[in-house]
Amino acid sequence: MPQLLHIDSSAELHNSTSRDLTALFAQQWSKNSPDHTTVTVDLHRDPLPHLADAALHYAPRLRVDGEIPDPAAEALQARIIEQLIAADVVVIGAPMYNWSIPSTLKAWIDYVHVLGTTVPFDTRTQPLAGKPVVIVSSRGNTYGPGSGNEANDHTVPPLVQVLGVSMGMDVSVITAELTLAHRIPAMAPLIEQGDESLRAARESLVELARTLRA
Ligand SMILES: Cc1cc2nc3c(=O)[nH]c(=O)nc-3n(C[C@H](O)[C@H](O)[C@H](O)COP(=O)(O)O)c2cc1C
Repeated sequence: MPQLLHIDSSAELHNSTSRDLTALFAQQWSKNSPDHTTVTVDLHRDPLPHLADAALHYAPRLRVDGEIPDPAAEALQARIIEQLIAADVVVIGAPMYNWSIPSTLKAWIDYVHVLGTTVPFDTRTQPLAGKPVVIVSSRGNTYGPGSGNEANDHTVPPLVQVLGVSMGMDVSVITAELTLAHRIPAMAPLIEQGDESLRAARESLVELARTLRA
């Protein structure tokens, strides 16, 4: 049974662009067949604790003497990694908060990015290699090519680095920009551009849900 892991991290519970877009992807993906199932993780409503111990960043064989993490924290990490490995496709809602990702999503990243377990280090182990992951980035301003703001996007590049470069996942990025144009009067001239960005994001997600059918 093909399985989607659907992760949200927005603190906006009523009017979230990333939540709407990840839900659209999940809804479309589930249409691929009656067997397509979804596991939903809401990192804002059910936040993970911060990584309890630096030792959890390393596979047990790479830990040095005295590094003995709390078994409960280790079990939690194992469950999170198993959930990720079990998925055929992953979609992650990643809003921009202060030029970075929400701390809830960062905590999840800290659990799953483990040297020697999910990241090849002393062996070729890379259990997530090739697994499709769709990053849905929502941001109030614009950071695209030509905006002059590209270097200030500390959301997509680190996610691509961790999930794609380091863990070998097959990353697609969908971006909805200028979401604040409807809220902030001074940004009203950018409403049309923001609406077009959202429309294009929706279209790309529907297409991706069809092609990443697993
Ligand atoms: C705590 C917080 C920090 C934010 N920081 C930024 C920022 O640095 N740059 C930006 O373009 N938008 C920023 N925004 C706006 C959000 O990126 C925007 O509202 C986006 O749509 C949030 O995603 P969501 O709609 O899925 O909740 C911030 C919003 C919040 C709540």
